[in-house]
Amino acid sequence: MKLTILGGGGFRVPLVYRALAGSPITEVALHDVAPGRLAAIRAVVARLPGPAVRTTTDLDDALADARFVFAAIRVDGLVGRTLDERVALAHGVLGQETTGAGGIAYGLRTVPVAVRIAERIAAVAPRAWTINFTNPAGMITEAMRRVLGDRVVGICDSPVGLIRRACAALDIPEGVAHADYVGLNHLGWLRGLRVDGTDRLPELLADDAALAGIEEARLIGPDWVRDLGALPNEYLYYYYRNREAVRAIRGAASTRSEYLAEQQERFYASVAADPAGALARWEATRAERDASYMAEGRGEAEERAAEDIAIGGYQEVALRLMEALSGAGPARVLILNVRGGGALGGLPADAVVEIPCAVGPHGITPLATGPLPGGMLGLLQQVKAVERDTIEAALTGSAALARRAFAQHPLVDSAAVARDLVDAYRKAHPSLLELLR
Ligand code: G6P
Ligand code: MN
Repeated sequence: MKLTILGGGGFRVPLVYRALAGSPITEVALHDVAPGRLAAIRAVVARLPGPAVRTTTDLDDALADARFVFAAIRVDGLVGRTLDERVALAHGVLGQETTGAGGIAYGLRTVPVAVRIAERIAAVAPRAWTINFTNPAGMITEAMRRVLGDRVVGICDSPVGLIRRACAALDIPEGVAHADYVGLNHLGWLRGLRVDGTDRLPELLADDAALAGIEEARLIGPDWVRDLGALPNEYLYYYYRNREAVRAIRGAASTRSEYLAEQQERFYASVAADPAGALARWEATRAERDASYMAEGRGEAEERAAEDIAIGGYQEVALRLMEALSGAGPARVLILNVRGGGALGGLPADAVVEIPCAVGPHGITPLATGPLPGGMLGLLQQVKAVERDTIEAALTGSAALARRAFAQHPLVDSAAVARDLVDAYRKAHPSLLELLR
């Protein structure tokens, strides 16, 4: 069974590869547009046990006969991400990879590329399942659905991380609880955690010590989390603590992307110079990357807790999904980015949402979710409308739709700023200068 990884030179690829040992995948094709990055990641995975690996820069060659395709690309690399962040910050709003103005810019840049890739998948590997990790994952999955329909599904590690932390705080063993997690990608809430018919979440919310043990609650503020009555996804930090986040990011010497660009350049250069040391270098770099994640939400000297770093999740969701779909592993309930149908009331039926789904050899069925209170539903509706305008702008080249997307995002508080953002992003990114008319 062949797995193709698009963005195969990406830094987190060895995490996925390592999880494949003992899985039904017998063959991996790594595809990337950057041969140097591909060679470096090949040097890392060559030192890990797992299926046979091949690298290629030819997309159709990579896709031929694939049973699964992982799409994990970053259009314009970290250079593009830095511009997304810096332009937003220069206009006084949040500069972040997936959330707010930066996420819209990233979406505008990525949607056309993702759709072209989807067209190649449909042509060359029409029976493949595409598992999309490419951010902004909800938006990109929704765009790729135009070509691939139900054969593309989006995944993220943040819901599973949150659920694992909540279960650990309550001493609930893995796989026992039913998690009532609802939302869009990077915009969701854990509203309940049922074990044997009892919702254990209220117990967790009432317990100061347990709540303080949850990374998301520390980031966002335990008091507010308790008032809200649900555990928010970590990315809701950027909504619920927007001013503090913007201030912290603006006050730091470098943005997340600038930090990573420097770190990643060192990593890829050192592996090119010393392939024998690739695995050790990768491990050390990964530890640094994980430990510094979301530093803007912590105090100056405050480190991430070791257990939060260890929780991971990214590769396991992908592996369980492949195993359940292929029938090689048990059917499961997984939190995935899929067309909601009627499962999340109040959103368009064809909108991609991030909710629990039953997965098995039959495919993926979203599970119905209970109604959301207005404060949560309103935010989802607003951000989904922005995502859909962004997709449409990216596919039609409409600058007016792009302005509407920025202006209606809850983290962009001025239509004038939205107009300036479109102008500035067009100047910053050659692809957007060409695209948006
Ligand atoms: C989490 C999110 C991903 C995101 C990543 C960013 O894992 O779920 O969607 O890409 O964080 O991490 P980074 O190290 O690139 O800042
Ligand atoms: Mn994610």
